[in-house]
Amino acid sequence: MRIILSSPLTDQGLYLEALHKFCPYADIRLWNDVKESDWQAEYALVWKPENQLFLHQKELKAIFNLGAGIDALEKLPDLPGDIPLYKLRDAGMGQWMLEYVMYGLVHFGRHFDHYRHHQQRQSWHPEYTHSLQQRRIGILGLGPLGAFVGQQLSQLGYSVIGWSRSEKEGLSFEQLNGYEHLDGFLSRCHFLVNLLPAKEETYHLLNEQRLMRLPRGAVVISVGRGSVLDEHALLVQLQTRHLRGALLDVFEHEPLSKEHPFWKQDNIVITPHMAAPTQHEEAVRQILGDILDIELGSGHNLI
Ligand code: GLV
Repeated sequence: MRIILSSPLTDQGLYLEALHKFCPYADIRLWNDVKESDWQAEYALVWKPENQLFLHQKELKAIFNLGAGIDALEKLPDLPGDIPLYKLRDAGMGQWMLEYVMYGLVHFGRHFDHYRHHQQRQSWHPEYTHSLQQRRIGILGLGPLGAFVGQQLSQLGYSVIGWSRSEKEGLSFEQLNGYEHLDGFLSRCHFLVNLLPAKEETYHLLNEQRLMRLPRGAVVISVGRGSVLDEHALLVQLQTRHLRGALLDVFEHEPLSKEHPFWKQDNIVITPHMAAPTQHEEAVRQILGDILDIELGSGHNLI
C-alpha cells in the first residue's frame, strides 16, 4: 500500500510513528520528498495540503482529511471531485471537545469569571447561580462531534437540545431540524455551542437577528468554525450585555489579529483553536479501518 502524507511539521512525526506502528509494510512517503518525482500514492493523508499535490498524484483511490473540517481542502481548485474524500469523524476528538465545552459551561455558569475579578480586588464575594442542570444547552450542528458532546452531556443529566439541518438518528436528546426551527431553537438555549462547519450556507448564520433570539444572559461557546458567527454582531451583543459571555476557540480569520476587539472584551475568553486537537493514533486507526473497507470493496464516501 502506498500512502502520501502532507501535514504540518509539528504533526508529521506523530503520524509517521502511528502509521509505521499499525501498518508496518506500507510504503509511506512525505509530500515534500516526492513532489519532484514520479512516485504515485494510492491514499493521501492530508491537512491543508498544497494544491499541487492533487495535480501531481494521479492514482489516488481516496483522500483522507486529517481533521474534522474539510473547508480548507474544499478551497483547493484542483481537489479531484471524483475521488472519495473522508474526514475524521470522532477519532478521539469528541472527548476533548466535551471537556472544552464543559469548561465553558462551568466558567460562565458558575461565575468563575466574576471570582477572578473578585480575587484581583481581594474580595470575598460568594454569588448566587442557577444550577447548570436547570439551564438548557443547545448544540448547533449534530455531526459526529456535536452528537457526541450532546449525548455525553445529556447522559450526565444536563438538559440538551440540538439543531441540525436534517434529522440525525440515534440521539437520546431532543433535536430540532431545518431553518424554520432555528429561531425557536435559539430562543431556548441558555448556552449555545456552535459546532457547525464552514460552508456557504453557514456563513454568518449567527447574525445579529439570530443572536438576539438567544435568551438574555445566554453564553456562546464557539468551537466549529469561526465564519458561522458574525463577529461584529457578537461583540455588540456582549457589549450591551444581552449575552453574558463567550468562549471562543475559532475565528473568521486565524490567527486572530492583534488589533481584533475580541482580545480586550472583558466577557470573552479566547483560546487559539485548541479545543479538540487531532489524536494521531486514533486518527490513523480510523483511516486504516476506512482503507480496509475500501480494499475489501465496501468503501463508500462517508461525507
Ligand atoms: C479542526 O479544526 C478540525 O477540523 O479537525
